[in-house]
Amino acid sequence: MRIILLGPPGAGKGTQAKRIEERYEIPQLSTGDLLRDAAKRKTPLGTEAKAYMDEGRLVPDPLVVGLIVERMGLPDCASGFILDGFPRTVGQAESLEKELDRKKSPIGAVICLRVDREKLIERLVGRRICPKGHGEYHLRFRPPKIEGRCDVCQTELVQREDDQEDKIRTRMKAYETETAPLIEFYRDRGLLKPIEAGGTVDSTTQQIESALNAA
Ligand code: AP5
Repeated sequence: MRIILLGPPGAGKGTQAKRIEERYEIPQLSTGDLLRDAAKRKTPLGTEAKAYMDEGRLVPDPLVVGLIVERMGLPDCASGFILDGFPRTVGQAESLEKELDRKKSPIGAVICLRVDREKLIERLVGRRICPKGHGEYHLRFRPPKIEGRCDVCQTELVQREDDQEDKIRTRMKAYETETAPLIEFYRDRGLLKPIEAGGTVDSTTQQIESALNAA
């Protein structure tokens, strides 16, 4: 099964993709994670991408498309994958369609998560991460046992550079102008599955599973 997870920043794409990955045994391909990893390793692509990401702007299409096409070619993607954060522009969607047509392995469903703007902002400004990779916390929804410290390694938690309020506004705007047109793009192709994702993580997962089972 090949699935796209579409939705604004903070809609829960990453959270839900991990659950679908386990449930359907297909890998989660997150362009955000791939780009952050490349930035951490200071590859030329990662260094270029970081400048855009830190400001909340989209990374140019050619960089992202190359990265994801390479990732989709690895053996673990043979029986499917879930795309988290890709495509994000009509140009990316067209490149993806061309690549998958070439492989005769089309997308089966596009899950589109919808959440009110105030909730999205609350989710993002409260997110904290362990710099040593022990996962994510949230000031309100998943607070650490000791304030500001990772439960596993006690390292001081940090905020993602692009989770500051001004960067969040830039990310939201990029979503509205560049990514939202994909809703029509995939509705026209009969693939769109809209999901109300403002409730709990479990309720969103249940809706996604029902939509996928009916696809
Ligand atoms: P990316 O990492 O993809 O960030 P994003 O889309 O802004 O998504 P987030 O990770 O912030 O949110 P999410 O929807 O995954 O929600 P999550 O599950 O994490 O991209 C970062 C940057 O990389 C972009 O700005 C861009 O620069 C670049 N980039 C990436 N892909 C690109 C592309 N294709 N083209 C160009 N540039 C690209 O949840 C968020 C928070 O909410 C968490 O704290 C979580 O615990 C919490 N939460 C989730 N669900 C719930 C719930 N139901 N109730 C309460 N809290 C919840």
